Order: sequence, then structure tokens, then C-alpha cells
Amino acid sequence: MENKKIIFSGMQPSGIPTLGNYLGAFKNWLDFQDKYNCIYFIADMHAITVRQEPAKLRKNIKELFALYLAIGLDLDKSIIYVQSSVPAHAELSWILNCYTYMGELSRMTQFKDKSQKQGNNIPTGLFTYPVLQASDILLYQTDLVPVGEDQRQHIELVRDIAIRFNNLYGDIFKIPDMYIGKVGAKVMGLQNPTKKMSKSETDNKNNTIYLLDDLNLISNKIKRSVTDSDNEVRYSEDKPGIKNLISIYSAITKKSIDEIEKEFMYSGYGNFKSAVAEVCVEEIRPIQQRFNEIIKDKAFLEQSMKEGYEKANNMANKTLFKVKRKIGMI
Ligand code: TYM
Repeated sequence: MENKKIIFSGMQPSGIPTLGNYLGAFKNWLDFQDKYNCIYFIADMHAITVRQEPAKLRKNIKELFALYLAIGLDLDKSIIYVQSSVPAHAELSWILNCYTYMGELSRMTQFKDKSQKQGNNIPTGLFTYPVLQASDILLYQTDLVPVGEDQRQHIELVRDIAIRFNNLYGDIFKIPDMYIGKVGAKVMGLQNPTKKMSKSETDNKNNTIYLLDDLNLISNKIKRSVTDSDNEVRYSEDKPGIKNLISIYSAITKKSIDEIEKEFMYSGYGNFKSAVAEVCVEEIRPIQQRFNEIIKDKAFLEQSMKEGYEKANNMANKTLFKVKRKIGMI
């Protein structure tokens, strides 16, 4: 690999990716691809922290891999692989569990949210999830992790764990920075714009735009989104629905908030929603076309996963062996 900065990020195959995943993560991943050494993985070991149906998980992994390619990630430029194929993630995760404190993990807001939905039987993996995330990132000597706003706390913890480990054993891990985009880093639900749009949403499908939704459905979901009654296209905290639509429009068109407010000052919500719907549909249409081609080619997908595994496995083992030696393992 050329001597460029290393970018590392990933997504859970816990459902079809959403417009939030696209604007908060995918779009930034693409921007990094030409200038840096990028590694993008499929976080299937993270996905099993909540119960998954095996056949569906397998399908989700393949579809997510195909989607990575359909959005424009390029196997000649980036390493793309499936987490569970590289054993070093699990191994380093165990080791780092011994360097992470219960108090730190208890403070993670994602754990608090997700564990509430699990009743009395909260899987331990849900609790130690951020340690696995630390292992992912630290195995590859990552410089920069592009994520959405909801991952900020996890990446901060990854840095803390790495610094703690380095203080004990020398410069083993690169301390990663995070990259969170200015727009699109937190896309909210269309029906409930005070909560983030999530791919594991089960209650109300109209709340979420899935990248593989029928294009008409995408348009309708946006047109039916919850707004307010003052009919003024203005970016404001007390107008969460409109604020969210402006952010989405801005992230896709790259127009500034000011420009958008001016453009739609007199147009009312109906016209504005139609404009947002149109840019979303036109952004997603070519992705779906490419996806439909790629997903058909099973042999190509399998071969690509294998190549990704080989490259990632080599890199990850280098760090893992260093860690094991340093802590006294043979
Ligand atoms: P996941 O699968 O929940 O989400 C993948 C990426 O999408 C971003 N994202 C959003 N961005 C904007 N608006 C939203 N509504 C929205 N929802 C999700 C997330 O911030 C993320 O960047 N723990 C990670 C997966 C992971 C990982 C890693 C990421 C495991 N190890 C190492 C980076 C580095 C997760 O659950 O992402």
C-alpha cells in the first residue's frame, strides 16, 4: 500500500442501509477513496449483538457488500471485506476487553438505548460492543474514521483505549481521529424528526428511506413527512421536520442552508418537499441500477470478498502479533 493516510469505517448488516447511512457515511467514504488508503468493512460481528435471523443476516451481508460497490466504492482503490472473515478482530477484542473499564462502557448512550429494548436478558456483547469497534479501528493503524454523529462517543472511547494501551506498552496503536461531515451527519426520521433515522426501525417504515425502496415509495415517504404548520422553509431547531429536509437537500445538492432558504422562501412546503423528493430519487436511482447488476453476479461477489479478506487479514495480523508480543504472549 502506498504511504497515504489510512481511512477505516464500516456499517452493520442489520438491515437495508438508509438515507441516513448514505449521507452520514457512504458519501464521505467515497470522497476519501481517491486520496487515501481506504478500508471499508461489513460489521457482521457487531450485528449479532442483537438477535439476527441467520438466512436474513447472510442475505444482508451480501447485499451490503453489493451496495458498497453500487455506491461507487472501487475494489482497485479500497479494501472491502467482511469482519467475521478476519479472526484478528475477535482476538484483539478479547485483549482490549482487559484494558477497558465497566464504567466507560456503562456510559455509552447507544448501550443504554439498545439495552432497554432487550428486557432482562441483555447480551454481554451489546455491552462490550465498543471494544470490538476499538479493535476494528486499531488493527489497521487507522488515521481517520468517517462516521455519522451517533458514533462520536464510541470513537472517543476508542481513542481513550488506544492511549491507555500505548501508555503501558509504547506506540503500538495509531491514535485515530474521527471525521464527521458538516451536513448529513445526523439524518432524522421522517415521521419522528427528533430521533435519528435508523435501518433497524421496525415500528413505522414511513419514518425511514431505505436505499433499496421503490423510487415512488421514496418520493411518497418524503412528501408525507411530518413538518409543522407555518409553511416557511426555514432552518430552525423548533422546526425539526423542515430542518431535516433542508439538511438532506443540502447534503445531496451541496447547496448551503442560506441558498436553500432563499430558493424556497415563497414556495411553501408542498413544492419544497417535491424538490427534496426529486433530488433523493435521482441520487438513489443509479445506485439501485448498479446494485441490481452486481447482486446477480454471485461468483464475482464471492471472489471480491475473498480478496478483501486476504488483504485485510494480512494487515490486521501485523498489529495483532505486535500486541500479543508486547503484553507477554508467545
Ligand atoms: P451503523 O451500521 O449504525 O451505521 C453506519 C454509519 O452510518 C452512520 N449513520 C448515520 N448518519 C447520519 N444520519 C443517520 N441517521 C445515521 N444512522 C447511521 C453511522 O454514524 C455510521 O457511520 N458501530 C458502527 C459500525 C462500526 C464501525 C466500526 C464504524 C463497527 N466498527 C469501526 C466505524 C469504525 C455502527 O453501528 O454503524
